[in-house]
Amino acid sequence: MQFRHILITGGAGFAGSSLATLFKEHFEGVKVTALDSLMRRGSELNLAYLREYGVDFVHGDVRCRDDFQTLEKFDLLIDCSAEPSVHAGTSGSPRKVIDINLSGTVNCLEAARENGAAVLFLSTSRVYPIEPIRNLKYTETKTRFELDAKQSLPGVSAKGVSEDFPLDGARSFYGSTKLASEYFLQEYVYNCGMRGLINRCGLLTGPRQMGRVDQGVITLWLARHIYQKPLKYIGFGGTGKQVRDLLHIRDLFDLIVKQIAQPDCWNGGVFNAGGGREVSVSLQELTAFCQTITGKKISVTPQPETAAVDIPIYLTDNTRVEKQFDWKPRTGVEETLGDIANWIEENKAGLESVFG
Ligand SMILES: NC(=O)c1ccc[n+]([C@@H]2O[C@H](COP(=O)([O-])OP(=O)(O)OC[C@H]3O[C@@H](n4cnc5c(N)ncnc54)[C@H](O)[C@@H]3O)[C@@H](O)[C@H]2O)c1
Repeated sequence: MQFRHILITGGAGFAGSSLATLFKEHFEGVKVTALDSLMRRGSELNLAYLREYGVDFVHGDVRCRDDFQTLEKFDLLIDCSAEPSVHAGTSGSPRKVIDINLSGTVNCLEAARENGAAVLFLSTSRVYPIEPIRNLKYTETKTRFELDAKQSLPGVSAKGVSEDFPLDGARSFYGSTKLASEYFLQEYVYNCGMRGLINRCGLLTGPRQMGRVDQGVITLWLARHIYQKPLKYIGFGGTGKQVRDLLHIRDLFDLIVKQIAQPDCWNGGVFNAGGGREVSVSLQELTAFCQTITGKKISVTPQPETAAVDIPIYLTDNTRVEKQFDWKPRTGVEETLGDIANWIEENKAGLESVFG
């Protein structure tokens, strides 16, 4: 591999710690440094995994430029540090989410420029605006919402949303800070000769995700079944028919490895990456999977009111990324859920403070 020292910001979080350990597992001799402020509850529990795999940990804050100054020279920066909740800043001031997700990313870009390093940015499907996504044509089946094949907007079909979907309209503070960060990365590529690439990920999941009500729904759902705590179907009438596609973090790693093998593609390009229609699930269906996997049943009550940032269905159209990198998500819903359930069961006592 061309990179010898990878800096992963947010490296103790779910995606960051998973990618860090996967790089150590698959590439002998590569140095990986995880920088994290440990703001996310539970990320401190991932430090043991980092140690076990030989990942160096630096306690630092991407909002603080000085925290990059003491690092050894690196040649790839993967930005996984974020306040990743779409609800962030919707009550009270959005200053914190803007500082972390936008100013923090600019500090990452500056540090990468100073090191002559390439940047891989983990962006989000939440850059697509809320109202147009809410207004997509969909039908209601017994257990889920389903996208219609015929849509009035460009960049969307029954397969899901592609990179050509229009970007006009509000998208949450989370989504807007991520989109602005994408634009800044492209400026660094254009003006500073930086090598950079943007993966707009749909829902990512897998072991080590410290799921909360407002972020990380898949692990939260399984954990609530395992710890026997109640859940709610929030929004869209409280029927639990809202749908997301999900991507196992291991599949994202496979994609990144293929991207690293194509240096010509590091020109600021944007790639949607998600599970697609085949790896998607509604909350109702998720409950059924969780019951089968854990053998447990919990109370799930309807809360019909919909939050201003919520959307009924999101599926990723992976056409561009599949064609460019000869990549496809390989892990199905059941296998992903099984991996997460095993992780929670194996670490049940330790994870009680997060999920219990
Ligand atoms: N999880 C998803 O479904 C998903 C989907 C699309 C994109 N993403 C993106 O992937 C990236 C990783 O998300 P995740 O799911 O691993 O979230 P996470 O919350 O598990 O990880 C983020 C990490 O960043 C750290 N962090 C927060 N503020 C920081 C700061 N100021 N300085 C240093 N570290 C800080 C947190 O402590 C945490 O460990 C984010 O950029 C997110 O926007 C996630």
